[in-house]
Amino acid sequence: MMDSGRHPNIELMAHSEVEDVSGYVGNFQVRVRKKARYVVEGECTACGDCAPVCPIVRPDEFQMGLSTRRAIYIPFPQAVPSAYLINMEECLGDNPIACGKCLEACDKKCIDFDMRDEIVELQVGVIIVATGMEVYDPTPLDEYGYTSHENVISTLEFERLISAGGPTEGHFVRPSDVTRPKRIGFVQCVGSRTALSGSNPDGSKGNPYCSNICCMNTVKDSLLLKDHYPGTDITVFYIDIRAFGKGFEDLFMRSKAEGVKYIRGLPGEVVGDPETGNLTAYVENTTTGRLETHEFDLLVLSLGAIPRKETGLVRQLLSLSRTSDGFLMEAHPKLRPVDSPTRGVYIAGCAESPKDVKDSVTQASAAAARAGILLNSPRITVEAITAVVDPDLCKKCGLCAKVCPFSAITWQKGEVAHVISAACAGCGTCAAECTFDAITMRHFTDQQIYAQIDAVLEQDSLEKILCFACNWCSYAGADTAGTSRLQYPPNARLIRTMCSGRVKPDFVWYSLQKGAPVVLVSGCHYADCHYIDANRNTVRRVDALWQGLEKHGVRPERLQLDWCSAAEGQKWAKIMRELEEMRAAVTVQEAEETKEALKGKKVPVSSKVWRLKEPTPATMRCMRCTHQWATTFDLAVDEERMCPVCRNNGVRVLLDGWESQRR
Ligand code: FES
Repeated sequence: MMDSGRHPNIELMAHSEVEDVSGYVGNFQVRVRKKARYVVEGECTACGDCAPVCPIVRPDEFQMGLSTRRAIYIPFPQAVPSAYLINMEECLGDNPIACGKCLEACDKKCIDFDMRDEIVELQVGVIIVATGMEVYDPTPLDEYGYTSHENVISTLEFERLISAGGPTEGHFVRPSDVTRPKRIGFVQCVGSRTALSGSNPDGSKGNPYCSNICCMNTVKDSLLLKDHYPGTDITVFYIDIRAFGKGFEDLFMRSKAEGVKYIRGLPGEVVGDPETGNLTAYVENTTTGRLETHEFDLLVLSLGAIPRKETGLVRQLLSLSRTSDGFLMEAHPKLRPVDSPTRGVYIAGCAESPKDVKDSVTQASAAAARAGILLNSPRITVEAITAVVDPDLCKKCGLCAKVCPFSAITWQKGEVAHVISAACAGCGTCAAECTFDAITMRHFTDQQIYAQIDAVLEQDSLEKILCFACNWCSYAGADTAGTSRLQYPPNARLIRTMCSGRVKPDFVWYSLQKGAPVVLVSGCHYADCHYIDANRNTVRRVDALWQGLEKHGVRPERLQLDWCSAAEGQKWAKIMRELEEMRAAVTVQEAEETKEALKGKKVPVSSKVWRLKEPTPATMRCMRCTHQWATTFDLAVDEERMCPVCRNNGVRVLLDGWESQRR
C-alpha cells in the first residue's frame, strides 16, 4: 500500500467512488467522485492533536466495534494517505457554539469545512476490478449464539483481538470479562457450504459454496494461539479440512502435533452460562457417531466469504457477468482467468471468487501483465467476428443498441446505429434482434445460416434433429459427448453460432417451414453466457416463438430450449435421445400441416419487455414433459428455470401473473 502510494506512475484516489464508466477498450471515460475529507490531504501530518478533542465517539469499524474512534479519524493505521478525515454525518460542525474543537486543536490549520466533493474525469485505456469481498453475517445462524452470547466472536473479531495493533494490543482476552480464555473452540463453514442455493428457497441459511480461505485461516489462528499461549486447549469443529495449497498440509499437521483437537461435525446448539460467560457446544461427532458436549471459554465462528454489496453496481458500470454465487465472472475459467467478458476490463482478487493473499497477488500480477500487453501495443487486434450495420437498411429504431450486452452499439434517436468494432464481442444478439436485416454478423451471416438449414433439411427432413448450438458451451458439450464415446442419435445436425443470442426467430420459423420435425436452441447455462447476459434475449425470443407456434396450431413443444455446458457431454446425449423420441412422434402429415400453417405468416418477435419490480408469482410449464407448476419468479436474479420433474431448462413462464409492456 505504501509502495503504491509512493510510486510515480500510480495515482491513488482514496475516499473516492467511481460513478460512471463509458467508452471502450483504449478509450474508457471514468467519472470519479472524490469525496471531501475536510482535512487537506497534503498538509495533514497525522499528528493526532485533533481526534482527542472531538466529542463524538463511535464504534471503530476497522476494530470490528471492539474499540471506538472519533468523528475525525484515520480509517485504519496503515491507510494511505496517512491523513485524517471527518465523517460529516457524525460531526457537529465548525460553528463554535456547536463544536469546532478540532479547528482550534489543529496547529497546521489543515481542517477545511468548506471542502466539497470533487468530480474527476479520467481517460483510461484498461480497467482492473479488484473490489474485494465481505464476510458472511452470522446473525441468521443463531444456533451458534453469535447474537446472544458475548463470548461467541467472529474470525475478524479474533484477528483484531490478537493483533498487536488491535484494541487490546495483542493481549488475547474474551469480551465478557476481559480475562484470557483457556478453552477455545472454532466452528468452521459458518455461512459456507450450508445451502443448496444462494437464495435459500428451502429455508436453509448461508451459501452453498466453499469460501476457500477459512480452513487455513483457522489452522493459522490455532498455531498463533499455541505460540502466544501454549497451554490453551483448542478444538476445531469442521465438515472437512481443505488444506490444498503449497505447504498447507504441513501446517495442518503441525497444528495437530501442537495438540489442537479436530472434531468432524458442527455444533447443533451453543448454550451460554450467563453467570460465568462460559459456553457449552452440543455436537454430533460424525467420525465416532456419538453426541458430545464441549465446554469453552470462547467460541470463534469461522465466517465464509460473500460478494461485496456493490458488486451489482460494478457489474452494471462495466458490463460484467456474475456467477450464481454473486462474484464477478471471468471470460474463461481456464484460458482467460483474469479477463472479463468486456474487452479491456480485468478482474483480480476476491471480486472474482474467495481466495487467499497468495492467489490474490498472483491474479493481480496476471491482470496487470494482461493490462500491460494492451497498453503497450499501439493498436489492438480484435476478432473479425463483429457486427456491421448497413446504413441503408437501418430504420433507426435503436433496438440493437438496447440488447447489446457490451454497449458496443451507439445510437441516437433518429440516427443510424453504429457499431464500435473494438468493443463488439461478436455475440450476434443485435443481428437476431434486427427485424430489418440491417445488421450483418461477420462469419455468421444470415445467408450462411440459411444455407446450413437448407443443407440439413434438403433430404429426409423428417429424419433430422436440427440444433442451434452456441460455440462455447453446447457445441463443446456435443464435442465432449463425442470424444467420450457417448451414444446418441446420429441424426442430430448442429448449426454453430457464437452465442444462442444469435439465433434469430426467423431461423427457427424457416426451419419448421422447411419441414424440420423438431428444433433445439441451446446455449450456456443461464448465468454462464460468455457474452454477459445475451442468452436472456434467447429466452425472450424463444418464448415469443412458442406463443406464435401455438397461435398457428403448431405444437410449441417442437421447439426446444436447453442449456448445456462444455463439460456436460452426458447431458447433451440425454437431450438428443429425448429429442429423437419427439422427432419420431412427428408424422409426415403434421410436418406438412406445419408448412401450410406457417406459410406466409409473420415471424413472431418478442414485443414484451418483462418488467418485474418484485419477485412475482408465476405459473411455469415445462416444454418437454408439459409439467406445470406455480412458483415465485424473480427476473432480477440470474436464475435458471428448470423443470423439477425432467430437469429440462426449456421452461415457459405463463404470463398471467406478470407485468409486461409494449416496447
Ligand atoms: Fe453460450 Fe451465450 S455464449 S449462450
